[in-house]
Amino acid sequence: MFQSQCITLFSLCALISGYSEEDRVRDLMSRYPLIDGHNDLALQLRKHYNNQLNHINFYDIKEIATDISRLQAGHVQGQMFSVYVLCGAQEKDAVRLTLEQIDVLKRMCTQNKDFELVTSTQELRDSHLKHKIACMLSVEGGHSIDSSLPVLRMFYQLGVRSMALTHTCNTPWAESSSKRYSFYQRQNNSLTTFGRAVVEEMNRLGMIIDLSHTSWGTAQAVLKLSKAPVIFSHSSSYSLCNSDRNVPDWMLKELKKNRGLIMVNFHSNFISCKREANISLVADHFDHIKNIIGVDSIGIGSDFEGAISFPKGLDDVSKYPALIKELLQRNWTEQELADILRRNFVRVFDEVEKMRDKMVMEPPSEVQISLEEVHNPCRLVLRHPDSPSASDQHGPSALHILLTAVLLLSTLSLL
Ligand SMILES: *[C@@H]1O[C@H](CO)[C@@H](O)[C@H](O)[C@H]1NC(C)=O
Ligand SMILES: *[C@@H]1O[C@H](CO)[C@@H](O)[C@H](O)[C@H]1NC(C)=O
Ligand SMILES: [Zn+2]
Repeated sequence: MFQSQCITLFSLCALISGYSEEDRVRDLMSRYPLIDGHNDLALQLRKHYNNQLNHINFYDIKEIATDISRLQAGHVQGQMFSVYVLCGAQEKDAVRLTLEQIDVLKRMCTQNKDFELVTSTQELRDSHLKHKIACMLSVEGGHSIDSSLPVLRMFYQLGVRSMALTHTCNTPWAESSSKRYSFYQRQNNSLTTFGRAVVEEMNRLGMIIDLSHTSWGTAQAVLKLSKAPVIFSHSSSYSLCNSDRNVPDWMLKELKKNRGLIMVNFHSNFISCKREANISLVADHFDHIKNIIGVDSIGIGSDFEGAISFPKGLDDVSKYPALIKELLQRNWTEQELADILRRNFVRVFDEVEKMRDKMVMEPPSEVQISLEEVHNPCRLVLRHPDSPSASDQHGPSALHILLTAVLLLSTLSLL
């Protein structure tokens, strides 16, 4: 009753002053333009164009929901672009495919003058002042590192600033929320010793840990272990829609203690648990999470290009203002909206960088996964035959024999 009177009053004032709710949203979003947690444009570039960018007009891509014109219309200033390769690539060429997806995003973000690749909060703030759309790279799924911390570190050097520990498949070291694949089933070992080393190394590097897609057990273990805030880059409330991709209230409370962020996913299946949804149902997720843990832990992670059905009126990257209008009508303050639009994300990224700076004296981790934990016939084991750990292996490999022969020959030629 009170709320509807307020709205009526506001509309009346707006009518008299000529300052509409749309004007108010536009004004707010130009001062605090959005940073979105998850967009799978790179996957679409692969699917539709085989990563051939030369003939794409990035200002107008009709087949999909994302292009520069619509990002600008939607007041998007920062986007975490997902570097995603399918779980089918695990134990095959996941690392190559991941590098190719990093490459396509880097080309897209450097060849278009309205994009800018950013790798720090400083660059993120600067890109805002320059009116650019900041591209941030985020690897979606730990299978992309093929159980190797050196690969993780090289992704960081290429500009990757976030990684989701799993996608829909378990890795040898962390567990997925999905039961779709039967790889690496395990009992009561949701984050292995190597998994803990991944978390610690991400803290040391200053890479944001993303728990969307991990199992509750894994998420809980990481929330306990991580020294820096973590994010769910594209997940919604489990209380309102009990999908395994959503976050239950008890875990939201753990997330608040961690100072982390849940960036609400728009995908209809995670909003209404049905194929259809609307903006009002999306706003319900924001209201619910705010009621449970307050506004400081909330962001927006649309999942455009990564999902099939979006709510009516919220179906491409130009439509974010409609959601902000709905939240304004629900009496969210401009300060609260500025927080969920961008300030919370910048704060989390900043804290992740501060933890990296604090750990600057720690050397890169040399933890390796044991061969028994990776069931991968494609792995080549390159080790000197006399090395102490060489005897760990099951029998001599062809490479071993070759190495021994080469060593023997070179010794002979020396004599
Ligand atoms: C799982 O592991 C934890 C910690 O190692 C232990 O406390 C708990 O009892 C275990 N649960 C089961 C079902 O084995
Ligand atoms: C949104 O969808 C819900 C559930 O179908 C419905 O009850 C509600 O009236 C819809 N709201 C609007 C504004 O269309
Ligand atoms: Zn996803």
